[in-house]
Amino acid sequence: MKENNLPRPVSVRSPSNIAFIKYWGKRDPSSQWPANDSLSMTLSQASTITTARQTRLPNHEVYFSGQQLFETENFAKKVFAHLRFLAKEFGFQAKLRIETTNTFPASCGIASSASGFSALTMSALAAWTESKNFGDLASRGFAHEKLAYLCRLGSGSACRSVLGGFVQWVAGENPSLQHVKTLHPADHWPLSDLIVVVSSKKKSTSSSLGHQSAASSPFFAPRIAALPERLALVKDAIAAKNLDALGPWLEVEALEMHALMATSKPAATYLTSDSLHVITWLREARRSEGLPAYFTIDAGPNIHVICETSDSQRVAARISDRFPQFEILHDKIGNGPSFEEIIPTRSEQT
Ligand code: PMV
Repeated sequence: MKENNLPRPVSVRSPSNIAFIKYWGKRDPSSQWPANDSLSMTLSQASTITTARQTRLPNHEVYFSGQQLFETENFAKKVFAHLRFLAKEFGFQAKLRIETTNTFPASCGIASSASGFSALTMSALAAWTESKNFGDLASRGFAHEKLAYLCRLGSGSACRSVLGGFVQWVAGENPSLQHVKTLHPADHWPLSDLIVVVSSKKKSTSSSLGHQSAASSPFFAPRIAALPERLALVKDAIAAKNLDALGPWLEVEALEMHALMATSKPAATYLTSDSLHVITWLREARRSEGLPAYFTIDAGPNIHVICETSDSQRVAARISDRFPQFEILHDKIGNGPSFEEIIPTRSEQT
């Protein structure tokens, strides 16, 4: 059913993902070719829901949580540039109205660029091609590999959100050989991510700047050299569902990325004293009480506590007891993006 002969809006919900092996630094920014393979777990709760519709407007319109975004802001610049790139690349004429909301606080280390750019890319392409599901998109030339490639051009980590479960972004021998693949579906190993929100303030250094300066850190070259072996160990631990083999690498990866950030030129510090309190306590609780949980961190101060889902209530209760002042977002491994049902407004009903 159409209103004014314009196709129905489409809505895509795309999850965030939390990296176990981090993507930090690019070999080539123009093709978004990462310095290394990365590996993540797709989440099920922290998501961006984006509705896109064709319009007869002269320009794209973008709304974030009901507020119109204008191109003066850095974040909005990237969004408009991505829409224009997609339109130009595939010859789409119609301007879109984009309405987007997050189920979690944005830009504070809960990987909002991954869910945001994947939801934007998939919903915009679905609106332009009048697709109602992933089968329609694939039949119009936008199968998962193509979607991952296009999401990546908006934000690198967004390509991993196109798939569910444990996902590897393979850097490949040259930029055109990079791709994403599911290592295991979500039901292989139910893991939870308890996100301890020590701050929901917007971060002051964007990840784009961080990627640019990563190679200036003295820790960058040794990290790149160590990663192939580390990746293999992490993959083995996931295949064997062995948290005590995986967990120490999660912590090494998080702290190494933050060490790179803090020693690059220019340097950025995302961790706060609250972040350090939480991770110090978690390590102590693991040692003294056997609390079965490890941490990782994204580009922000918030702490992602990873544990088996069967232990998540107990682990969350211990964190809340110790840090009643911090909200905990309960998340877990998920199946990847989905098309959402849109309840038509009265004017859209025929
Ligand atoms: O996708 P970007 O360009 O916002 O990079 C973010 C990279 C990290 O989230 C910090 C790590 C990762 O691999 O997700």
